[in-house]
Amino acid sequence: MLKIVDYDVLIIGSGASGLTVALQLTSKLQIAIFSKGELTESSTLYAQGGIAVALDEADSTELHIVDTLNAGDGLCDPSTVRFVVENAKKAIDKLIDYGVEFTRSEVLNNELSYHLTREGGHSHRRIIHADDATGFEVETKLVEKIRKMSNISIYENYIAIDLVCEKGRCVGVYVLDLNSGTVILFRANVVILATGGVSNVYLYSSNPDICTGDGIAMAWRAGCRVANLEFMQFHPTCLFHPMAKSFLISEAIRGEGGKLLLPNGERFMQRFDSREELAPRDVVARAIDHEMKRLKIEYVYLDISHRTSEFIISHFPMIYAKCLELGIDITCQPMSVVPAAHYTCGGIVVDKHGRTDLLGLYAIGEVSFTGLHGANRMASNSLLECLVYGAAVAADIMKNFPELSMNSNISISNENWTINSNKYKFSHKLNDLRRLMWDYVGIVRSNKWLEQAQHHVDVLNTEMLTYYKGSNIFYISSDFLELRNLILVADLIIRSAIARHESRGLHYNTDYPHIGNKILSKNTILFPKNY
Ligand code: FAD
Ligand code: SIN
Repeated sequence: MLKIVDYDVLIIGSGASGLTVALQLTSKLQIAIFSKGELTESSTLYAQGGIAVALDEADSTELHIVDTLNAGDGLCDPSTVRFVVENAKKAIDKLIDYGVEFTRSEVLNNELSYHLTREGGHSHRRIIHADDATGFEVETKLVEKIRKMSNISIYENYIAIDLVCEKGRCVGVYVLDLNSGTVILFRANVVILATGGVSNVYLYSSNPDICTGDGIAMAWRAGCRVANLEFMQFHPTCLFHPMAKSFLISEAIRGEGGKLLLPNGERFMQRFDSREELAPRDVVARAIDHEMKRLKIEYVYLDISHRTSEFIISHFPMIYAKCLELGIDITCQPMSVVPAAHYTCGGIVVDKHGRTDLLGLYAIGEVSFTGLHGANRMASNSLLECLVYGAAVAADIMKNFPELSMNSNISISNENWTINSNKYKFSHKLNDLRRLMWDYVGIVRSNKWLEQAQHHVDVLNTEMLTYYKGSNIFYISSDFLELRNLILVADLIIRSAIARHESRGLHYNTDYPHIGNKILSKNTILFPKNY
């Protein structure tokens, strides 16, 4: 008999977005928060550069808005951009209240101020940070707080399988408890997807393994629209080293003067953009990809060694230590770097309150599509979006909770879940998929490659479905569930890329090398069959 557990609110995901909404909901609500692995394991934990906020005297929210719109290449929703940017200071103050410690700058006019770093696309120093490990500071401080809340139950090592919906509203989630190997039905008035992005659909990714697009896949299967999934962001500089699994080298290194070099020591960014190393990410990643293909080289170099050792070690202690562990002393040597999949700009369509197409279902953070990022996310705007929308979702739930209440009398279908981790081995299929996406749906695309990718993903999808369901029995394991979601989201990415007949922002197709009409350009919105 299926076990059933009831709460007021279920939050799937414990990164910056999930933790923010949990902390900002009233303590009168009984809340459950789920994570696939340990509570802290998330993209948030690994964030390096920081959070964008206009604090410098020479800067302003208006300039932050203009830079975000420029980076988004004509596809940002200006009202969303304004909403997020205008709430940035408040969101940072809240983090400081929670005990997050950001790096201070020297005493100026006897006043302590925060050190602001610079990243691509930003016209000013605007990134508040905790050295080069901002995510670690934010995630661990928020988790410390969550663990003290008596109204919040924590479910670590629980993987959400699918949403449960009845009459157009979301009423719960089937979850696999990886500790005991059992499936539980969690029911609630409100379900929030805060599951992060899907960058692990690519062979090389800066993301932790948990980023497999589960939230996007669950929402799509439940009948929600998704948008702009062709805009997958590749971070220009991940360490190229056999012992480092796509370790990120923060854009802040370039912000503080780091230069990109070819093997002969020549700089090349000036040939691609007047902003050189501080051009937006799409431009820098494509330039590196172009040079690597032109010269048939496996990586380029990033060099900051012209700055003093003291400066490098004090500003980038984590990157310095990690590189040193691998035998690279960045105070006197360049690093070998390559682009890797980093951020999912598209996602589940939500409104200004984080509401999805299904009553009772919200989405926040990287899993969502709010219109903030347009065709290319500007660096350090992502954590900001998690914080601002986390607060907005909490406010909306508290305002509307009476209407969101329901009698939890969901009829339980006759499903028979069978945990079957050993029966099928899926790792070769996962490798096939990730290699396919890297080669055919990567930084540079073409119609032919996209069609081939579509064909291969269709085949993988058919195979998966036959493994998954035999009569009423669902064969599941965590790697199987993740692969099923990755295949589905790969399909959505490819369909979105095929639908865009232009090159814009992060989407570059050699068959349509030019940008379309800026005014007429639209978001790519996919509608599920049962929409
Ligand atoms: P995440 O932090 O990824 O959390 C996802 C959560 O969902 C996890 O708890 C996971 O366990 C859970 N989950 C997923 N699927 C399931 C499931 N099926 N069942 C149960 N739980 C599930 N952005 C910035 O703004 N500034 C930066 O400096 C920055 N640096 C970055 C550096 C790196 C290396 C990376 C990878 C990203 C960086 N980003 C940065 C991007 C930013 O970190 C992420 O976009 C942001 O942290 C996403 O937060 P989130 O809450 O949406 O998801
Ligand atoms: C970085 O530090 O380069 C990552 C910043 C981001 O992805 O926003």
